[in-house]
Amino acid sequence: APASSGDWPRSRCRAGSGPGAPRDSGPGRRWLLSTPIFYVNGPPHIGHLYSALLADALHRHRGLLGPGSGRLATGTDEHGLKIQQAAAAAGTAPSELCSHVSGLFRDLFFRAAVSFTDFIRTTEPRHRRAVQCFWAALQGRGLLYKDFYEGWYCTPDECFLTQAQITERPDAQGRPCKVSLESGHQVHWTKEENYMFKLSEFQEPLRKWLQGNRHVISPEPFYQVVLRWLEEDLPDLSVSRERNRLQWGIPVPGDSTQTIYVWVDALVNYLTVAGYPDAHHAWWPAAHHVVGKDILKFHAIYWPALLMAVGLDPPEQIYVHSHWTVRGQKMSKSLGNVVDPVACFKQYTVDGFRYFLLRQGVPERDCDYYEEKVIKLVNSELADALGGLLNRCIAPSINPSGIYPHFSESCFRKGSDHIDVEASGRALAEDYELVASVDRLPLQVTDYFEHFQIYKALESVVACVRQTNGFFQRHTPWKLCRDNPAEKCWLDTVLHVTLECLRIYGILLQPVIPATADKLLSRLSIKPEERAFTDLTFLPRYHGKPCPFEGRKLGPDMGALFPRLETPRGHQMEIKGLRP
Ligand code: ME8
Ligand code: MG
Repeated sequence: APASSGDWPRSRCRAGSGPGAPRDSGPGRRWLLSTPIFYVNGPPHIGHLYSALLADALHRHRGLLGPGSGRLATGTDEHGLKIQQAAAAAGTAPSELCSHVSGLFRDLFFRAAVSFTDFIRTTEPRHRRAVQCFWAALQGRGLLYKDFYEGWYCTPDECFLTQAQITERPDAQGRPCKVSLESGHQVHWTKEENYMFKLSEFQEPLRKWLQGNRHVISPEPFYQVVLRWLEEDLPDLSVSRERNRLQWGIPVPGDSTQTIYVWVDALVNYLTVAGYPDAHHAWWPAAHHVVGKDILKFHAIYWPALLMAVGLDPPEQIYVHSHWTVRGQKMSKSLGNVVDPVACFKQYTVDGFRYFLLRQGVPERDCDYYEEKVIKLVNSELADALGGLLNRCIAPSINPSGIYPHFSESCFRKGSDHIDVEASGRALAEDYELVASVDRLPLQVTDYFEHFQIYKALESVVACVRQTNGFFQRHTPWKLCRDNPAEKCWLDTVLHVTLECLRIYGILLQPVIPATADKLLSRLSIKPEERAFTDLTFLPRYHGKPCPFEGRKLGPDMGALFPRLETPRGHQMEIKGLRP
């Protein structure tokens, strides 16, 4: 029977997602995170990596809350005219191009420590089966019809555009050329008989869904963009191409003259990885999609409509991010400024570059990459502030016994309301502020992660690292004498507090810089099973509780936590050139 699209939202729509409502992020809840699946017409660049890192950091952070119930899917989008043409231009078979480039993405994500649990290729049999079932479901509900489609098609973007979405610009030879207003890519007039999806029937249901789920698309400006789109006309969508023009794709079931539109094919990947059509019920709709702003319409309009059309719930969350530019310019093959992530790993280390992208990337707006910026940030925050802090408080000269030092209540008394030297031992007002900041940090970081503001989470960690450096500097523990019992107590307490701070930072930084965090925590002798959310109780001794780490032998010295990066050669020469 045809679906009645008017019955949306149904009772399953998430309750409690009104403004300010707390998010349901308890450890028992399942969630299925995804990155976009990437086109294989070219090798991966830092923009693709950024999408994957955002998803990875969310996934790893979620893992801190408890094991088991999260998955992270990524993969490659291998069908469509764009790939067919890229293969023809390269003189290779599409299947060969796909295998090669898909391998590049997989290797990159592996190297980047992206903790994916599934890597899907749309050319896999499991996916073909899912797409064909999905198609049959649409057809079974009477939501497809055949018609003559006429309009502009943009192959690089694999999308149909209306007259209002195109403009005319001269091409490289100066000839007038029709291009997409949004992407600037060339469009072609197409006229062919296609299957059409009754998208127009879903305008109201989509609006209701969005109005009832104000946090479903974040950051919030993108939610507003989608609402505005829904105020305009929502025409039916062409969902197939004539097979004689597009062979590289999944055939329409029962009609060998038509190939399924690559975006319908691609979006269904999220169901394929959930086990559709047999086993998806355990996971759907716990989908959380990370997407670039360029594909927002596909994820926030077409995809929810297609899901409603087959009787499934829209995704729970769509996280949208903006784009990376390079020295102020859009990355493009023709400008020759596409940045290779593998080269970045060599130059900055994997964790250094992960840190840069996640610390500097603000989902709301485009961000700019250039090497001096990476080096400056990573040196100042990872090498100097964090690495320096560890180095200062763990060196054998200051802690010759090599154990997690003891905390003395008499030096650092609980309670900051009645501060005078007598009552508080040797701790000062700023020291109590440090304790309060680090006490607050885990929840603050979690809240930022849950609101897709990883950059703010990192900012708040860095602020605490700086505060801790200030604490250490203020008390000049290197001037204290171990032979004097009173000074020794205070010295050990200063070191204990500093190590406790570092332990918290190490745990919280695991989602972003996993190798460096591991090195830090191992040096502090924190065991792998002591690095979860429940281990984030800061300074238990101060709070009158036992500290399991106190007195423990520290881990072996494995060298600098994060080696300083070299200034790029060109830049160095420039500076030298300025010298007299
Ligand atoms: O659109 N900065 O694939 P795609 C940041 N196959 N992120 C960027 C970026 C940049 N400069 N350039 C690309 C497709 N991205 C479809 C998706 S999903 C069912 C199908 C990221 O290879 C960003 O997330 O063109 C963007 O949405 C994605 O790569 C698009 O990759
Ligand atoms: Mg693209």
